[in-house]
Amino acid sequence: MTLQRTLSILKPDVTRRHLTGKVNAKIEESGLRIVAQKRLHLSKVQAQLFYAVHAERAFFNDLCDFMCAGPVVVQVLEGENAVAHYREVMGATNPANAAEGTIRRDFAESIEANSVHGSDSAENAQIEIAFFFSQLEIVG
Ligand code: CMP
Repeated sequence: MTLQRTLSILKPDVTRRHLTGKVNAKIEESGLRIVAQKRLHLSKVQAQLFYAVHAERAFFNDLCDFMCAGPVVVQVLEGENAVAHYREVMGATNPANAAEGTIRRDFAESIEANSVHGSDSAENAQIEIAFFFSQLEIVG
C-alpha cells in the first residue's frame, strides 16, 4: 500500500447548496485526510487552464462556465492509494451510474454539476495539486 495525495474540488453545486460539511464528512468517514483546503472563486481562464486536457471536448465551454459560476472548495486528500480510493468515494462521473453511498449518487445534480472532481492518476494528482497549492499550504 502507498500513502498518496490527490486533488479534490467541491464544485459550485456543492457550495450553492451549503453541502461542504456533508461532503467533507463522507470524505473523512472514508478514511481520507483533508491535509489542505481553501475556498476560491475561479475565473473562466483559471477553469480553462485547469481543464485544458478537455479543451477539445464538446462540453468544455459549458464545464468551464459552470466551474466559475460560484465558489469551489479545493482540497488535498491524503491516504492509502488516495487517487483510486477517492474515485470510489466519489462514484461514477455520471451520477445516474454512481453506486449507492457515493458522493455523486447522494448529492450530484447532473453529469456537469456532479459535485466533486478527483484526480484520475498519481501523475495528474501531482500536477493538479501544484496548480492550487504550495508545499507550505499542505499540512500532513
Ligand atoms: P470531472 O471529474 O471534474 O472531470 C471533467 C468533468 O467534465 C467531469 O467531472 C464532468 O463534470 C464534466 N462533464 C460534463 N459533461 C460531460 C460528459 N458528457 N462526459 C464526461 N464529463 C462531462
